[in-house]
Amino acid sequence: MKNILVALPKGRVFDQTIQLLDRAGIRIDNGQLQSRRLVVSDETGRYEFVTLKPIDIPVYVESGSIDAGIVGSDILRELESDVYEPLDLQIGKCKLSVAGPGDRGVSLQQHLRVATKYPRTADRFFKTRNAHMHIVKLDGSVEIAPLLGLADVIVDLVETGRTLRENGLHILDDIALVSSKLIVNRTAMKIHAAGINQLISQLDSVVYAKA
Ligand code: PRP
Repeated sequence: MKNILVALPKGRVFDQTIQLLDRAGIRIDNGQLQSRRLVVSDETGRYEFVTLKPIDIPVYVESGSIDAGIVGSDILRELESDVYEPLDLQIGKCKLSVAGPGDRGVSLQQHLRVATKYPRTADRFFKTRNAHMHIVKLDGSVEIAPLLGLADVIVDLVETGRTLRENGLHILDDIALVSSKLIVNRTAMKIHAAGINQLISQLDSVVYAKA
């Protein structure tokens, strides 16, 4: 059976992802995880892992350079990638919301400047509301944009709500619930069916046990 190459997301969901894999019996040696090696394998050698920025994961998986990946539904919604999504992993749960300063009475009908890492998602959302907007694409710390006068509202992830609160912002609307998904390249799903199905079933048993 061919080794299955799986992309793991850097950042906020990385630790939860490693714990989920561990519970599924897929263990990566800690020394390898801490190293600067770009590709590491699990203890059985059945899987290989590469850790990437979440936004790049669907690009690699759609192209087939990487067989499978774990990535947030926020990113999948933004990129509209053509990949197979066999499993919701029930980790990295948060929501994608519109937020703004509470004291400025921002109406979604105004001509809005919207700061976000999710320009396509924001564009689609405000168009459904018939709102006129100008998207300001940023790459992080989006919550600062209204404070500094760069934007009227933001579209960003909200988990505990702490970042919003501490920057004087309030949720104005919710766009979607977010969680991490297993994604698989459509061709790999067929030609490496045995290995991919094994991965799905190992993860599925853990997600199911948790629910
Ligand atoms: C995310 C998100 C918010 C924050 C929300 O940022 O973009 O800023 O976490 O979490 P909270 O509701 O629990 O406060 P992240 O830490 O991933 O970094 P980023 O701002 O660079 O994207």
